Amino acid sequence: MVQIDTKKLQNKVKEMYKAVAENPQGKFHFEMGRALAEKLGYPKADLDRIPTASTESFAGVGYHFDMADIKPGETVLDLGSGSGMDTFIAGLKTGSDGKVVGLDMTDEQLSKAEELKNQAGFSNIIFKKGYIETLPEEKEIFDVVISNGVINLSAEKEKVFQEIARVLKKGGRLAISDIVTEKQLTEKIVCDIDIWASCIGGAAQEDTYKQYIQNAGLEIKKVRKNSQYSFLSKSAQGATRDFGVKSISLLAKKE
Ligand SMILES: C[S@@+](CC[C@H](N)C(=O)[O-])C[C@H]1O[C@@H](n2cnc3c(N)ncnc32)[C@H](O)[C@@H]1O
Repeated sequence: MVQIDTKKLQNKVKEMYKAVAENPQGKFHFEMGRALAEKLGYPKADLDRIPTASTESFAGVGYHFDMADIKPGETVLDLGSGSGMDTFIAGLKTGSDGKVVGLDMTDEQLSKAEELKNQAGFSNIIFKKGYIETLPEEKEIFDVVISNGVINLSAEKEKVFQEIARVLKKGGRLAISDIVTEKQLTEKIVCDIDIWASCIGGAAQEDTYKQYIQNAGLEIKKVRKNSQYSFLSKSAQGATRDFGVKSISLLAKKE
């Protein structure tokens, strides 16, 4: 069992996503921005209706709004909302009768998303500071939980899925995109905090990841591999080749 210094890891993750919010043109192990969103399958019409600066800092790994099938009036929670791109798209889908909560732990992502929300007048959206391992929400209040490229970053994934199951209504949906692996990563990779914060080192083996979801009481309905997603740096590409690091989108339901 590899021991991770979770505080150190959390600080590194915050540092990386502060840079993503403030300097989306910077050098990262992963792709970002509108071109990535279009490649992953986001409809241009949706991207045209949300704040441009949120798409510039988009650092997701897949498209799952077809699986989420968000309807007008629904309540949605976006875990690790970043600069808010997915939260704004969810806000388009719920309309003014619905409500979307974007939750993130990084102050700079939250303040950017909040400013963009106020400029664009999305009154059905709330951005909140919080941790995905201990959600600051009542039980059974959301119709849908979405998350993009976030749960891999947590050292307590089982706890995250238990929290998701707690806040979902009966019949509620979980629609996420995330990084998983085909083979278990080595200790050397897992202990590299920079690689972890880039969405690789923390990735769980796919079957283990699915088991965590099922253990939380959620039933997996669909899984899709996102072959369009790839990492940029040589070290990240090496891990992808050697361990089958890949992006998937997944739909699960609370029965
Ligand atoms: C790869 S980015 C993805 C952001 C956004 N979902 C997107 O698609 O652009 C990961 C985000 O998750 C947030 N995050 C990572 N671990 C978290 C945790 N344990 N609790 C809350 N937020 C977290 C980071 O601050 C960052 O904004």
